[in-house]
Amino acid sequence: MSKKQRTAILISGRGSNMRSLVEAARVPGYPAEIALVVSNRPHAAGIAWAVEQGLPAVIIDHKEYASRADFERALQSALDSHQIELVALAGFMRLMTPEFVGCWHDRMINIHPSLLPSFKGLHTHEQAIAAGVKIAGCTVHFVRAEMDAGPIIAQAAIPVLEGDTAETLAARILEVEHRVYPAALRLVAAGQARCEGEKVVISSEINETNPLYSPAV
Ligand code: GRF
Repeated sequence: MSKKQRTAILISGRGSNMRSLVEAARVPGYPAEIALVVSNRPHAAGIAWAVEQGLPAVIIDHKEYASRADFERALQSALDSHQIELVALAGFMRLMTPEFVGCWHDRMINIHPSLLPSFKGLHTHEQAIAAGVKIAGCTVHFVRAEMDAGPIIAQAAIPVLEGDTAETLAARILEVEHRVYPAALRLVAAGQARCEGEKVVISSEINETNPLYSPAV
């Protein structure tokens, strides 16, 4: 097997997606290793878990930096000193400058809890409920300077149920996030998800052809 890709996970909060990536990466043969966890919030629950697990973990508190560029310089220097090759954003709540995003072009991925390009930004699940969509889901994509945009690597879809609220929908989407994010990182780290222009070409076999009907037919 070729060398595992040294991957950093950037978080701001509870870190459930980080956990799913860490757990996937522990399985022998997974093509990425989690070489660093970074939180921009000192009290993020996720960073405490990462420390407990003995993972290399650092807090880079954005409030301690005068500008976004200064914060990103500190972040870049942590990534450099851990020889990071891939970055996975997992509930990381800071917008990044085009310069930083450019440094990580096609090497930084994010998960967003909607079927992009629908419902970008905050209050995603509220937006989906308000729009009355019958199918919702999540998207893993390469990061570009525009928020919640960039070539799509993988998506997972679930039905929206009668009586769903933003909270119940979020909980069911989170379950599929935890499966699709490790699968997407696997594709990227193995070189099986490549950007061609602004689209991702997947070179592993895709077997799933079942449609999802909502409501069921
Ligand atoms: C997830 O819903 C993710 O899609 C979004 O932020 C949330 C983070 O949750 N970007 P967690 O910190 O991974 O539990």
